[in-house]
Amino acid sequence: MLDALHRPLHDLRISVTDRCNFRCGYCMPSEVFDAHHRFLPRTEILSFEEILRVAQLAVDLGVKKIRLTGGEPLLRKDITQLVAMLAAIPDIDLTLTTNGTALPTLAGPLRAAGLQRITLSMDALDDATFRRMNDVDVGVESILRAIDAAEGAGFANLKINMVVQRGVNDQQILPMATHFRGTGHVLRFIEYMDVGHTNQWQSNEVFSARDILQNLQREYALEALAPAYSGEVAKRWRYVDGAGEIGIIASVTQPFCGDCTRLRLSTDGQLFTCLFAHQGHDLRARLRSEASNDAIQNFMRQVWQTRSDRYSELRGQQNGVVVPLHRVEMSYIGG
Ligand code: GTP
Ligand code: 5AD
Ligand code: SF4
Ligand code: SF4
Repeated sequence: MLDALHRPLHDLRISVTDRCNFRCGYCMPSEVFDAHHRFLPRTEILSFEEILRVAQLAVDLGVKKIRLTGGEPLLRKDITQLVAMLAAIPDIDLTLTTNGTALPTLAGPLRAAGLQRITLSMDALDDATFRRMNDVDVGVESILRAIDAAEGAGFANLKINMVVQRGVNDQQILPMATHFRGTGHVLRFIEYMDVGHTNQWQSNEVFSARDILQNLQREYALEALAPAYSGEVAKRWRYVDGAGEIGIIASVTQPFCGDCTRLRLSTDGQLFTCLFAHQGHDLRARLRSEASNDAIQNFMRQVWQTRSDRYSELRGQQNGVVVPLHRVEMSYIGG
């Protein structure tokens, strides 16, 4: 099944909560979220049964990878139960993106429930920088413990996502690289994106993929690797001395819309065909009507087949001038 630009549907990203215990400035800045933001009431949030139904229908339409996101997905009550339900779907890659704070408690149960992989967000190794970035005074020690817990539970080869913001944590590129070299975990540097509104993104805060690479190459010899799979968002590099690999996600300076195979399901059951979409397609209303599986699947098919989004490429063509659309927050739509 292809969209209007001939892209297949491959990934379903499911946001299971719009809440988070962190207040990263690039995602949920406390000034805005704590004063003005309305989180979703329980009745608007999809139940596990509803999520499972969508996931099964999406897999029948060709989805091969399901990622649970948020907000912070591990804050969703009984998340391991949802993982177990989804893990029973045959032949899918089931993974989750987390800030890690709940892993010391949940890594084991998640593994037992059938979770295959974990991606962990970590923006600095320096404790003061890390605390400043999460803005809720969680120390870096907690995340290092979370990584140990994940390893202990059998999650080898984690992906570690670091959003690089100029003037905030660009000094941490090398220390982070040095820390994760040789561990088997893959550190991925992410360009700071203009997603949502509340972060008040400015183009001069982007630390480009080129600059990230230059920083790394001051210390380490790197060589490019081929993508692990078609449509991979990270460009891969390996340390020439054999200490493993890193990734760079250049969503701003080298957009990858051409291979974008991702469909997103928001916490309240809206389907989004782009991270930068200003409106979703109301799947929840259909799930809560008498609609048959066939009818719901036809709706999903139609949403995908008429999709022509390529926001990041268009942004590039306008020399960084962003159209002032109403864009939804990443904590709602799912990173
Ligand atoms: P793997 O399956 O482990 O390869 O994961 P992934 O790289 O597909 O997904 P991940 O959630 O780790 O993505 C990392 C980051 O890349 C996200 O947090 C976003 O910042 C960015 N990203 C992922 N998907 C998209 C996308 O569709 N569009 C844009 N613009 N950025 C994306
Ligand atoms: N730019 C890039 N990535 C972001 N994320 C959240 N906000 C942004 C942004 N403005 C991603 C990061 C983080 C995950 C939860 O969401 O990868 O690790
Ligand atoms: Fe929470 Fe992740 Fe957003 Fe930070 S980036 S506020 S950890 S959802
Ligand atoms: Fe996909 Fe939209 Fe991101 Fe482009 S900007 S890669 S279309 S989600």
